[in-house]
Amino acid sequence: MSRTVVVLAAGQGTRMKFPLAKVLHPVLGRPMLAHLLEGLAPLQAERTLVVVGHQAEAVAAVARAYGAETVLQSPQRGTGHALMCCREALASGPEGDVLLVAGDVPLLPVEEVARFWSDFEERGPEASVVGLHLANPFGYGRLIRDTDGALLRIVEERDASSEEKAVTEVNSGVYFFRTPRVLDLLEGLDASNAQNEYYLTDVFARLAERGTPARLFLASDPERWLGINSQPELARATKRLRLDVLDRWMTEGVTVVDPDSTWIEPTVRLGRGVTLHPFVRLCGASVLGDGAEVRSFSCITDSELGEGTLVKEHCVLEATRTAEGCILGPFCRTREGTVLSGRVHLGNFVETKKARLAEGVKANHLSYLGDVTVGAGSNIGAGTITCNYDGVHKHPTVLGERVFVGSDTQLVAPVTVGDGAYIGAGTTVTKDIPAGALAISRVPQKTIEGWAERKKARQEASEPTKTR
Ligand code: UD1
Ligand code: MG
Repeated sequence: MSRTVVVLAAGQGTRMKFPLAKVLHPVLGRPMLAHLLEGLAPLQAERTLVVVGHQAEAVAAVARAYGAETVLQSPQRGTGHALMCCREALASGPEGDVLLVAGDVPLLPVEEVARFWSDFEERGPEASVVGLHLANPFGYGRLIRDTDGALLRIVEERDASSEEKAVTEVNSGVYFFRTPRVLDLLEGLDASNAQNEYYLTDVFARLAERGTPARLFLASDPERWLGINSQPELARATKRLRLDVLDRWMTEGVTVVDPDSTWIEPTVRLGRGVTLHPFVRLCGASVLGDGAEVRSFSCITDSELGEGTLVKEHCVLEATRTAEGCILGPFCRTREGTVLSGRVHLGNFVETKKARLAEGVKANHLSYLGDVTVGAGSNIGAGTITCNYDGVHKHPTVLGERVFVGSDTQLVAPVTVGDGAYIGAGTTVTKDIPAGALAISRVPQKTIEGWAERKKARQEASEPTKTR
C-alpha cells in the first residue's frame, strides 16, 4: 500500500499576532515545519505534499529542503479547502493511505504515528483521527461521540455549545485517510460556520452519517501532539523540546550545570565529558569535542571546538574551528573563517575574522585580527589591529612563526612579516618585515625635565589674583 503524507501549512496563523507565516516560527532554532518534516522522515512515505499559501515561497523553500512537493492554496479558505487543493496531486498518485497533518505540530512523536499508521493500514476503516485528552481543551475541536463511543462529529471551539465545550477529548489535527475515497467526502463541504471556512473536520460527521464512523486513536503524550496557535503555546513547545534535548545529552553524560538556562539546538553534537555552565547557547551545526567546557553567557553557532577547548564567559563564536586545548575569552568574538590550531589563546575583547592562527599563538587582549595568517608560537600584543580594508578591498596580513608583535601595533595590509621578527610597541607597519628583523616606527621619545613646574608658574603669572 502506498503512503502519502499531506501537511497543511498554508494558513497565516492569525492568533500568533506576528507577521510571519505560523509554520515558519522557529522552535529551538528551526521552523516548526522543518521539525515536522524531519520528524516524519522515518515513515518513509512515497510522497510528501505540503500545502502552501501564506508566504508561500518561504514555506515552500522549507518544504523543498526536505524533499516535499508543494501545492498552492490561494486564497486560504480553511483546512477542508486545503485538502481539496490536493485533489489533483493525490488523484495522480497511486491508491493508498494518506497521513494528513497540520503543519503546526513540531513535536509530533513519530514512533506513535507509525504505530497508528500500521494499525490503520491493517484494520481500516476509511478514516481515523488521533484524539487527545486535555484537562484544558480550550481552542481545539471537540470529539463528539455516541454512547457506544463511535465518533459522531468534530465541533470547533467557536461553533460548540457549552455542553460540547465541556468535552475534554479533542482533535489533534492528525488523520489517516484512504485515497481516493477521502476526496469524495470533500464534495459538497460547505462553509456555514463561525469562521466561514471549509472545515476538514466536517468530513467526520459525513462518515458517521454513512454508517462508517472514523476510528479514534488516543495519543499517550498529548503535549507532543498539540498544534501551536499562539505565542504562549510556541514558547511552551520550545521549552518542552529544549528540555528533551538537554535530557538526552545529560543521559549521555554531558554536565549541564543549569538546565533551566541552557539552550542546545537539536542539530548540535557534543562529545564526552563536555561541561556547560548556566546561560550557554549552542546553535546550528556546532560540534563540541570531548572535554570541551563553555562558561556562562557564551553563544556558539556553526562552530567546531576541539578536544578540551575552554570558552570562558561572554564569548560569541560563529563559523569558527578550534583544534585541541584552545582557550577563548572572556569576551571574545570569533567570526566566520576563524581557524585555530592547538592551544591558541584568545583573550578579552579580541575579534577575529578569516583568521588562521597556528599552534600556540596568543592574542590575549583588545585586538582585531581579520584576513590574517599567523605562524606557530607568535605573540600578538594588546591592541594590535590588522588594517585589512582600504575602503574598497580587503587585504591579507601574513605573520610568520614566533613573531613578536608589540602592543598597539597597526598592520596595514597587505603586509608580510617574516619568522622570528619583532615589531616594537606602537608601530604602524606599512612595509614587509624580513625574518629576524626589528621594525619600529614610533617617534623617538623626548623628555623635558621640570616642564610641569614651569608651565604652572607661567599660568599663575598670567592669571588675575584670586580672591578667597
Ligand atoms: C484545527 C482543527 C481542530 C483541531 C486543531 C488541532 C479544523 C477546522 N480544526 O484547528 O479541530 O483541534 O486543528 O491543532 O481543521 N491551514 C491551511 N489552509 C487553510 C487553513 C489552515 O493550510 O486554509 C493549515 C494551517 O497552516 C495549519 C493547519 O492547517 O498548519 C491547521 O490550521 P489552524 O488554523 O491551526 O487550525 P486550528 O484552528 O488549530
Ligand atoms: Mg492549529
